[in-house]
Amino acid sequence: MRLCCVFFLILAAVLLTGCGQDGEPDAITKAQPGKVAAEPQRTGDPERGRDALLNRAVVTCGLPVSAYRKSIREIDPKLMLPTRTGLNAQLPYSLTAHTSASGVELVTSNCLSCHAALLNGELVIGLGNEFLNLTEDPIVSVESAGAYVEGEAEAKEWRKWADRIDAIAPYIITDTVGVNSAGNLTFALFAHRDPVTLAWSEEPILAPPPEKPLPVSVPPWWNTRKKHASFYNAEGRGDQVRFMMLASTTCTDTVQEAAAIDAWFVDVRAYILTLEPPAYPYEVELALAERGEKLFRKNCRRCHGTYGADELYPNRVVALEDVGTDPFLARDAFEESDRFIRWFNRSFYGETSRVEPALGYIAPPLNGIWATAPYLHNGSVPSLAALMDTSSRPKYWRFAAEKPDYNVQAIGWDFDELAHGKEGAMGWDERNRIYDTTLRGYSNQGHDFGDELTSKERRALLEYLKTL
Ligand code: HEC
Ligand code: HEC
Repeated sequence: MRLCCVFFLILAAVLLTGCGQDGEPDAITKAQPGKVAAEPQRTGDPERGRDALLNRAVVTCGLPVSAYRKSIREIDPKLMLPTRTGLNAQLPYSLTAHTSASGVELVTSNCLSCHAALLNGELVIGLGNEFLNLTEDPIVSVESAGAYVEGEAEAKEWRKWADRIDAIAPYIITDTVGVNSAGNLTFALFAHRDPVTLAWSEEPILAPPPEKPLPVSVPPWWNTRKKHASFYNAEGRGDQVRFMMLASTTCTDTVQEAAAIDAWFVDVRAYILTLEPPAYPYEVELALAERGEKLFRKNCRRCHGTYGADELYPNRVVALEDVGTDPFLARDAFEESDRFIRWFNRSFYGETSRVEPALGYIAPPLNGIWATAPYLHNGSVPSLAALMDTSSRPKYWRFAAEKPDYNVQAIGWDFDELAHGKEGAMGWDERNRIYDTTLRGYSNQGHDFGDELTSKERRALLEYLKTL
């Protein structure tokens, strides 16, 4: 009887683990905190990459252009990019036009909807969009735009797109305006695809991710060239291109199509690697910043590296217990995501790349840090001043406006500290704009490395951070 049970357990373990294409078991490797080694990358042409990023579609299904035109009001000229071509020249930067195999012109969101933002009136490509509102059910606007669709060919294209949004909608709606749910979105898409053929399945093949996405702040692209692993928990190892093109899992239904995107995505990566952070546009007290640099070298360099002439970036994943920030993003990826890791590693995307989560977060490069508030992987700390002094971090806060002004004292976007969480809000809109650090995944704890400094030292350190 006992032997029988043991045999059964082994059999169950074998079945659960599954087998890869060539008979190898789908073993999963998890990473340890510590240094991340460089791995070979493919090279591309940055100029071709910029053109492709602005004009080619990675998401190849969408809303028919004619229906898009009927469903929108005027487009703000500040949102148009002069270097775009064809139909794209008439669209806001966050949308891309694409002609489907059936000949219907479509409009679809692109990378820049999350990875570009206006900074003092100018569009900065690569700056994370920290004001995106993902608290609303996307199905509502997809369905209402559907009312403008005409004819069979358009209806078919719209249906395909609406079905994909339908499949992911329950997993991407965030609790708070500004935080992002791209990771959960990608897992929801994996759940609907065969990893080997990439064929779409109406019904999920894998158990979908949890419905409540963990909040994530969008990292700036200009740091990509320094980092040996992608994502906050450094789980993206190997070839970076295959991670960068994961938005293609929305509509790309064959390996052949994915390979075609990969062929021009090496150029997109090459372009992303050329991006520079915007320079701090206000006054800097240079003598104070110099004192700050000394403090930085003493207290921060071992994790964040050095800047300027002797630039050096350590590429270090710091264990959860050492950094102390909200653990759930790293922990869920490490403990609850094996089915998605296996999916990735078996798929086209995993041919040259691997997902290897660690129980920690990478200490990011701090170039252009003045421009990327709010801070930490979950965007829980609204300003650099608050990040450097845990006692001043607000428990409940909201941005002071839908597009807040820059605050040179706090170093970040203007915010208001609140005396109450979401339950004290007057209505849904107000509720959704409140960042409540008591929610799961939203904690502003940890990273207390500034606490030991005096307030004068912190001022100097902040002055230095403006110059990076
Ligand atoms: C829905 C919003 C969204 C879209 C669309 C999106 N991304 Fe991202 N991207 C994110 C978020 C959020 C992260 C951080 C995820 C994490 O680390 O857990 C990220 C991470 C990345 C990173 C890794 C950065 C780093 O420092 O580790 C790269 C590179 C990247 N995205 C490129 C792209 C490209 C190229 C596209 C278009 C094909 C794209 N992304 C589309 C939200 C988005
Ligand atoms: C033991 C390693 C370690 C030390 C020392 C350290 N940091 Fe960090 N730092 C990290 C890690 C890891 C993160 C990412 C944590 C997260 O996102 O949850 C981080 C995040 C940050 C961020 C936010 C980055 C962003 O994009 O949101 C800033 C700013 C920062 N650190 C500045 C500093 C300064 C200034 C010092 C020195 C006073 C310092 N750090 C000391 C490991 C360290």
